[in-house]
Amino acid sequence: MATSTAFLFFSFTSLFSLFSVLVFISRMKPWCNCNTCRGYLTKSWTNTFTNFCDWFTHLLKNSPTGTIHVHVVGNIITSNPKNVEYILKTRFDNYPKGKPFSTLLSDLLGRGIFNVDGDSWKFQRKLASLELGSVAIRSYAFDTVIDEIKTRLIPVLASKARDNTERRDVLDLQDILRRFSFDVTCKFSFGTDPACLLPSLPSSNFAEAFDLASKISAERGMAALPIIWKMKRFFKIGSEKKLSEAINVINDLAYDIIKQRRKMGFASKKDLLSRFMGSVSDDDKYLRDIVISFLLAGRDTVSASLAGFFTILSKNPKVEELIREEVNRVNPVQEYPTFDELRQMHYLNAAIHESIRLFPPVQNDSKFAEEDDVLPDGTVVKKGDRVSYHPYAMGRMENIWGLDCLEFKPERWLKDGAFMPEDPFKYPVFQAGSRICLGKEMALMNMKSVVAALVPRFDIRMVRPDYEPRFTPGLTACFRGGLPVKVYARK
Ligand code: HEM
Repeated sequence: MATSTAFLFFSFTSLFSLFSVLVFISRMKPWCNCNTCRGYLTKSWTNTFTNFCDWFTHLLKNSPTGTIHVHVVGNIITSNPKNVEYILKTRFDNYPKGKPFSTLLSDLLGRGIFNVDGDSWKFQRKLASLELGSVAIRSYAFDTVIDEIKTRLIPVLASKARDNTERRDVLDLQDILRRFSFDVTCKFSFGTDPACLLPSLPSSNFAEAFDLASKISAERGMAALPIIWKMKRFFKIGSEKKLSEAINVINDLAYDIIKQRRKMGFASKKDLLSRFMGSVSDDDKYLRDIVISFLLAGRDTVSASLAGFFTILSKNPKVEELIREEVNRVNPVQEYPTFDELRQMHYLNAAIHESIRLFPPVQNDSKFAEEDDVLPDGTVVKKGDRVSYHPYAMGRMENIWGLDCLEFKPERWLKDGAFMPEDPFKYPVFQAGSRICLGKEMALMNMKSVVAALVPRFDIRMVRPDYEPRFTPGLTACFRGGLPVKVYARK
C-alpha cells in the first residue's frame, strides 16, 4: 500500500513537473534566435563586457526606443523615462510585483511589505510611512547611526590607519560597510545589536544566515527553469535545504526577540518592531515578516551605495576636497555633524546622488503585467510579461544625462549652490511613483553621516587605483572580491 502510494505520488509530481516545464517553455520562447536572445543564451556578451548590467546598458543605448525584449526569458527591459512613469505611476495597478516575484522571496520575507501587493501592501505602506515620518523614529535612527560611526566605524578604520609605515593593512571596505549597515539596520529594526563591526571582525550566525538566505532567494530568480528550485525545495535538497536552514536561524532569533519584547513591554521603545507591535499586536509571524523586509530593504542598499561612493571618490580628489571644505565650513568643530548641519551640506548631497546615479544598489527592478498593454514607446506587453526598468543603464544614458553622462559631476545636481532634485522617473534609483522607497531620506542621512565623518579624518585609497568593479549577481549590487583599500589618517 505504502509503495503504491509513493509510486502514485511520484508519478503525479513527475507529470506535474513535465507539464509546468512545457508551459514555461511555451511562454518563454526558448527558440528565439534574435541577437539579444542568442547573446543571452550563449553568454557571448562576456567576450566584450565584464558585467551583465553593462551589456544591457549597451543594448538599451542602441535601441531606438530605449527598450529591449529578452524573449527567451519573457522580459521587457526599459530605460525610457516615459515608460518608467507609466509602469510605476500611470498604470501602477497593471504592474504589481506579481506572483512570480513574491514566490521567489516568500520563504524569506513571507507577507512583508517588500513582497506583497494589494491590500496587505497598502496596510503596511500606511503604517510604515507614519512610523518612518515620525520625529521620534527619525531621531532614533540618527542617534543609532552616529553611535555606530563614533564607537565602531571610526575606531576600526583608525586601527588600520595607525601603522604609519609602508606595510599598511589592506582592508575590505565593502565588508566593513556591510557590517556597519547590518548593525545599524538591526538596531533600528529590532532594537538589538548584533555587534558585527568590532576590530576582531567577528562572525555572526544571524548575519551569515541572512546573507545566505538573500543570496539563494536571489539565485532562484536567475534560474533558467524555476521548476528545478521548486523541486529541490519539495525534496529539501541542495541549495533549498541550505535556504531552509538559514531561514530557521533567522526565525529563531526573530521570534525570540518578539517574545522577549512582549514580556518586557514595547510601549516606550523606539525601534521599528516595537512600534509595529502597537498596531499588529498578536500575529508574531506577520510581525517577523514586516521587520525582516525592512532588514532586507535597508541593509545592503546602504552599504552598496557607500561602497560605490568611496570607489568613485578615490578617483576624484577634487570632489573629495570640496566635500572636506564643505564639512569643515558647516561643522568647524570637527565633531559629528548634527541632523541640521547635514541638511546644509548641499555639495555632499549632490555627490551622493551623483555616485548612486552611476552605481545604483538596485540595478534593475521588475513588475509583472496583469493585462495586455502598450507602453508609451509602442512596446507591446502581454499579460504575464515581466517588465523591468533599469536604473543602472538609465544613469549611463546620453539622452537622459547628456554627453558627459559617464563623468562623476556633483555639479549637475546644483543650481546656485543649492541641491536640485531630478525627475524621479529619470532617476528611479529609489524607485518612483506609488511604491517609492520608504527609507530614502533615512538612507541619505545615513550615507551623509558616514561620509561627513570619514572624509575629514581619513584618505581612503583603492589598493588598485584602476579598480573597475565587477558585480556579483544578487538582489543588490555587490562587488565581486570585495573592495580592497588602504586607509591613511589625515593630520
Ligand atoms: C541607498 C539606499 C536605498 C536604495 C537605493 C533603496 C532603493 C529602493 C528601491 C529601488 C525600492 C523598490 C524595490 C521594489 O519594489 O522592488 C525600495 C523599496 C523600499 N525601501 Fe528602499 N532603498 C534604500 C534604502 C532603504 C532603507 C534604509 C530602508 C528602511 C529604512 C528602505 C525601505 C524600503 C521599503 C520599506 C521599501 C518597500 C516600499 C514599498 O514596497 O512600498 N530602503 N527601496
